[in-house]
Order: sequence, then structure tokens, then C-alpha cells
Amino acid sequence: MSSVMVKRTRIETEKGDITCERVDAIVNAANHTLLGGGGVDGAIHRAAGPELLAACKLLGGCDTGDAKITKGYGLPAKHVIHTVGPVYSESGPNAARRLASCHRRSLELALENDLKSVSFPAISCGVYGYPVDEAAHVAANTVVEFVTEHKGLELVRFVLFDDRAFQAFSEQLERAAGVGEFKP
Ligand code: APR
Repeated sequence: MSSVMVKRTRIETEKGDITCERVDAIVNAANHTLLGGGGVDGAIHRAAGPELLAACKLLGGCDTGDAKITKGYGLPAKHVIHTVGPVYSESGPNAARRLASCHRRSLELALENDLKSVSFPAISCGVYGYPVDEAAHVAANTVVEFVTEHKGLELVRFVLFDDRAFQAFSEQLERAAGVGEFKP
């Protein structure tokens, strides 16, 4: 696990299942409909139960790079922040900007709702085909920049489902925070 302190926010990486996270909000890698799917979206809906889908049906969908919030229902997390990542093969030069927006908008929503702890999966790194190292670089730098500029978050955690993603996010987090052996 990597763990860095940036201003007053701890940012961590952890290998595990995001549906087990006992935090104020977990972030869901959803699609435009917000009506569920496979991957982490499917796991979150299964763990939250049918009330989550019922709540999502009232949200009117979500644009790529934007985020919307619901309660967590059957999850240990109090809320779910649903965001839609870029499909890598369709995004061209906009991919990084859109992925960064997912992280920024999710954290903005967290602050708007006075949340203190947020866990992210590796957004777009599954079905949406984003190369893990590139996604980790964008995610880590966006989160470090956000918590440098905004107070209020105590913990932001990246919860990775496989070793490859865990290694990539841990390495990119330490680079982004300017710690560890990597020197630019
Ligand atoms: N906990 C944490 N991470 C998970 C979990 C889990 N329980 N299950 C899967 N993951 C990881 C995957 O291994 C991948 O690294 O989440 C990352 C994102 O993969 P996807 O879930 O495929 O999400 P994404 O690539 O953003 O594609 C979104 O897939 O499920 C559909 O409805 C979703 O259409 C949307 C698309």
C-alpha cells in the first residue's frame, strides 16, 4: 500500500474490493445511463441492492466526465458517486482531460456534501480500455492537485482490484506527491 499526506489529506492505494469500503463515498465507474452494468458498476449495484437502481433512475443519466451522487443503501459506504469515464479508443486527445474531470467532479461533489473520505476504483481501466499506467498518472496527479487546492477531505483512497493496477497507482501516486525514490 502507498500512503502520502498532501496538505491535510491522506491519499492511499489499496488492493481490494471497493464494495467493502467503509467510507463516506465510493466512486462508481458507471455508463451514461447510470442503470448498472458489469465490472465495478455491477459489483456496486449487487452489493447496494435494488434501491440503488431505483435512485439512479431518477438522475437522468450522466455525461462523460461528470458525476452524480446517491445514498449507498446496502453498501457499508454512506454514498455512491457515479461518474462516467472516457472510452479510451473513442476519446483521442481528450481522454486524459475527461478522466481528470471524473476525479475532479467526484471530489467536488464530495465537498459539496461535506464528505470526508472517498474511495475510487481504476476508472475506465476495464471495459473502457484505458491503459492502466496512463490512467494512474492522470488519476494520481488530478487528486494530488485537487487536495492541494481544496481543504476538507481527510482521506482519498484508490482501491485496485488487481496487482497490475495496484502497482501502477502506487507508483504514480508517489511520483505525483513527490515522494519515494523517483525524482523528476
Ligand atoms: N472493486 C474495485 N475495483 C473493481 C471491482 C471491485 N469490486 N470490480 C472491478 N474493478 C476494477 C476493474 O478491474 C478495473 O480495473 O474496476 C476497474 C474499472 O473497470 P470497469 O468496471 O470495467 O469500468 P470501466 O472500464 O470504467 O468501464 C465502464 O463497464 O461495467 C460497465 O456499466 C459500466 O459501461 C460501463 C463500463
